[in-house]
Amino acid sequence: MTVLECIEARKSIRSFEAREIEAEKLDKVLEAGRLAPSASNRQTWKFIVVQNENLRNKMIEACSNQEFVGEAPAILVVCAESHLMRCQQDAATIDASISLSFMMLEAQEQGLGTCWIGAFYEEKVRKLLKVPTEYQIVALTPIGYPAETGNKHLRKDRSEIVSYDSFR
Ligand SMILES: Cc1cc2nc3c(=O)[nH]c(=O)nc-3n(C[C@H](O)[C@H](O)[C@H](O)COP(=O)(O)O)c2cc1C
Repeated sequence: MTVLECIEARKSIRSFEAREIEAEKLDKVLEAGRLAPSASNRQTWKFIVVQNENLRNKMIEACSNQEFVGEAPAILVVCAESHLMRCQQDAATIDASISLSFMMLEAQEQGLGTCWIGAFYEEKVRKLLKVPTEYQIVALTPIGYPAETGNKHLRKDRSEIVSYDSFR
């Protein structure tokens, strides 16, 4: 599969089989995150793999009662340390987002489904997973074998979003 084919095939998955993820597959997903670029190559990220059933059930409430989050055999939580770049954006958000994007694509390649979750209560997740306050919890995703095919979402046409040489 080419990278573009993988990107085309990925869809948010919100229903999962109970089947465990093979350790080799999970390692490949985590490796994709480890190899992602980061500002000044700081790599301040931490990836927490939540597999414990009790914790996964508690994560449902922390994720605004999105039941499917706890249905997957694992939840990947990405945290990073804050650091303001010259452009005034926080590298934590950007670095963590790139790494999670890479992991989601590798998951797709491995036949696993994911769904980026932004609707979570940071403090609830922090308490459950004992994340130190210097780390932001940027995003998380359930990960597992899809029990649905997902919906193909439309995207804007390239002509609507791309301009050359100046903003249009
Ligand atoms: C920053 C961000 C936050 C999101 N938060 C949620 C969420 O909390 N729950 C959910 O079901 N989907 C969430 N999504 C998934 C989007 O709804 C989904 O990516 C979008 O509708 C496009 O669909 P696709 O991923 O199938 O292409 C989020 C996606 C992003 C990028």
